[in-house]
Amino acid sequence: MSAQIIDGKSISNAIREEIKRETADLLEKGIRPGLAVVLVGEDPASQVYVRNKAKACEDLGFYSEVHRLPADTSQADLLALIARLNGEAEINGILVQLPLPKHIEEKAVIDAISVDKDVDGFHPVSVGNLMIGDDSLLPCTPAGVIELLKRSGVSPAGKRAVVIGRSNIVGKPVSMLLLRENATVTIAHSRTPNLPAVAREADIVIAAVGVPKLVKRDWVKPGAAVIDVGINRQEDGKLCGDVDYEDVLPVAGWITPVPGGVGPMTITMLMQNTLKAAKRAHG
Ligand code: GUN
Repeated sequence: MSAQIIDGKSISNAIREEIKRETADLLEKGIRPGLAVVLVGEDPASQVYVRNKAKACEDLGFYSEVHRLPADTSQADLLALIARLNGEAEINGILVQLPLPKHIEEKAVIDAISVDKDVDGFHPVSVGNLMIGDDSLLPCTPAGVIELLKRSGVSPAGKRAVVIGRSNIVGKPVSMLLLRENATVTIAHSRTPNLPAVAREADIVIAAVGVPKLVKRDWVKPGAAVIDVGINRQEDGKLCGDVDYEDVLPVAGWITPVPGGVGPMTITMLMQNTLKAAKRAHG
């Protein structure tokens, strides 16, 4: 038996079709979801992400604007731009591409974004709402992980889930979302003793540590769902995840490839958040 491969591209496309249909209905009512993306500096990877976000908006019928600011932009000027975007009615979501240049304090910038427009889900109030279980805008990659599971027929309810990694943008929020979905959740990390044995108890393994091919076959209970959030560049230039895909494929029940698993979901969930923020703004 070989694992069912979870095709993130195809699930992502299906969700985008749903978003497109809903957007078409909103457009008829004169409502157009709008996203502002802010990029400071010229980081090549960030430029690609920003282009992809603008392209996704265009494909779905959203309004979008990209603010490209020079690397030496002052924190005060960036905060002033965010304050202006917070007040603009046609903007429903604001995304400031990270990482920011070193002279800008990331926290000050995230805190300045209106919670209603926090489509990244990084604002402390959004994080708090996620903990409490309020219907907030959810961080995109963790929300994408849950969608992949559900749309592949893997219900987290009653399952043992082990999340490897405790970052603020993936490990912690995806753990909270799995808990909300009634899984029994363990958060494992670099200081967890006997990580393979802990992982092997899981029905659902989420790998989000940034260590190439860390998760091997003997870490995985036969039939478990394995979701790989890692994106690592190998010496030969190819991408690989935090899971040793070829090794784990024969034992897992479900597995996400890298690339083509979690990756395509992130921008799709950003679009879903922007749509949600637009609907809320129009009451
Ligand atoms: N840089 C890499 N991933 C992300 C993300 O999800 N949001 C933002 N704002 N910046 C990023």
